Amino acid sequence: MCGIVGYIGTKKAAPILIDGLLKLEYRGYDSAGISTIENNCLSLLKDKGRVKNILNLSNFDTLSGTIGIAHTRWATHGKPSKENSHPHFDNSSTFSVVHNGIIENYNELKNFLIDNGYSFVSQTDTEVIPNLIHYYYSSTANKDFLQSVKMACSDLHGSFAIEVICKDFPDNIIVAKKDSPLVIGKGEHENYIASDIPAVLKYTKNFYFLQDNEFALLSENSITFFDNNLNEISKDIKTIDWDENSADKNGYEDYMLKEIYEQPDSIRKTINSRLLDNGTFDFTDLNISKNYLSSINKIYIVACGTAMHAGLSVKNTIEKLCKINTEVDIASEFRYRSPLIDKNTLCIFVSQSGETADTLAALKLCKEHSAKTIAITNVLGSSITREADYSILTYAGPEIAVASTKAYTAQVTLLSMLATYFADVLNRCDKDIVIDLRHDIVSLPAKLEQTLNSCNSIKDFALRVYNEHDIFFLGRGIDYSIALEGSLKLKEISYIHSDAYAAGELKHGPIALIEDNTTVITILTDSNLVKKSISNTQEVITRGAKTLIITNQSLPNYGFDTIITIPEISEYISPVLAIVPLQLLSYFISKEKGLDVDKPRNLAKSVTVE
Ligand code: F6R
Repeated sequence: MCGIVGYIGTKKAAPILIDGLLKLEYRGYDSAGISTIENNCLSLLKDKGRVKNILNLSNFDTLSGTIGIAHTRWATHGKPSKENSHPHFDNSSTFSVVHNGIIENYNELKNFLIDNGYSFVSQTDTEVIPNLIHYYYSSTANKDFLQSVKMACSDLHGSFAIEVICKDFPDNIIVAKKDSPLVIGKGEHENYIASDIPAVLKYTKNFYFLQDNEFALLSENSITFFDNNLNEISKDIKTIDWDENSADKNGYEDYMLKEIYEQPDSIRKTINSRLLDNGTFDFTDLNISKNYLSSINKIYIVACGTAMHAGLSVKNTIEKLCKINTEVDIASEFRYRSPLIDKNTLCIFVSQSGETADTLAALKLCKEHSAKTIAITNVLGSSITREADYSILTYAGPEIAVASTKAYTAQVTLLSMLATYFADVLNRCDKDIVIDLRHDIVSLPAKLEQTLNSCNSIKDFALRVYNEHDIFFLGRGIDYSIALEGSLKLKEISYIHSDAYAAGELKHGPIALIEDNTTVITILTDSNLVKKSISNTQEVITRGAKTLIITNQSLPNYGFDTIITIPEISEYISPVLAIVPLQLLSYFISKEKGLDVDKPRNLAKSVTVE
């Protein structure tokens, strides 16, 4: 949540900052702002609304400085307004600060500063930071910029990634972080800062990852890192192999549509990252022995939102193939429910961004209880990746649309690949089941292409239902996990109320909601349960519902309204195909309603606050 960008070099900073912010708008889009230094004076342009508003301000072109910081906001403290937008200055306009995160003790700090003569113009927690830096700066004889930032950071409780510039030091940017993401991109005679790699991928592929409680001092030609005691430390640079075009729309109208169509490719890359010549998947880097796996009493898969749905879709696979009790937990609940964890518990954390605060906190909790932890993320070097004992990457490439699509299918694929690896190590089930599943996994990219080509009628269905107020999703077994994800996608980008039910539960209450013309979508891919789900669907048809069926079975028409048939595949892995028509359905409904598909209201990608 919230995106920050920084630049120091030889070029005009403002256009580079705006370009970076536009790429980070998926992190928040309530308001935006930039601050540069010209002739030892801080400039400030900010406003509520989208980043492009800053470009339209009459004095944008006057910003000639080659150093600057910038911010796009997802409001937490204080409504979206010009005053609450970042950057924030201290009272003397010496420091300018942008901040991503939440300062939990800002009230105490604000009162302390007010008692010391400072005043505030915004309702944000952030405004305490520049004033606190100024407080330390003016109370030390030698006016040490870095020392003042460090002292201010020591007073902050909560999470922060900050960039600070100071009019007295026009050749430096200082950054610091704790529990919020921040990367530093190295260029030639220029350096970049961003919350997330895609913002500056166009300029560099070489990145440093700042750890919690570390500081960096950037100039045009150098980046110096410091630990919490301001001792200089060294860091390795990492080269990111993402294609810069992967962070652009590449001719598509929206990122979400582009990302839906990228799925065959992202799944191919994810599979190939682990595929051996003998057709098995290699996870030996996890150091998982047969002895260890046999001693496991439970696997927890912990995640949020769509990533949690990916976990749900492989729970049964792991249980059937490995005979290990597997629980899927919502990270925000898990961390407060005193889960039973010990050294014989294997904990898997799934996160596209690798920065989700609740997932990160759940991971730290599991480590405290000596459990082995594995992270599945899409972003190399992300916080969750650094915290976990082992990490595995999905190769979905940058996912920019707020609603997750290609990350979800990559997560389901990778988790299923991992399940086959565990099954091989444990040897507790019929080998043929594992071999068949592996074949099906490898066939996914081609079948995804087919699925994308067979979804034509989904647009027509979208045009018929886009004005509805409620849409219900049904499924049993693995199809219930697909129903949950389909329903979440619809809510997020079309603002239509939607619920997903395990189809067998319908008659225990929800069927009371069904009336003439209610839209019900049933997923039918779990061959063991198809007949049962058809009966449940007939119960709603009898009560007047119009139905859309997503299936990989050849079915007689039982009075269904529309049937979308996807390629045949084992139910273990069917979510990867069955979700595609549902992603497209949400997309077309959102477009028909004239909504912003990529940036739905109230949401932000990468939820780095609790
Ligand atoms: C839904 C969506 C969210 C995320 C959730 C977890 O489309 O994007 O539900 O899945 O916020 O995010 P990550 O995977 O980054 O931990």
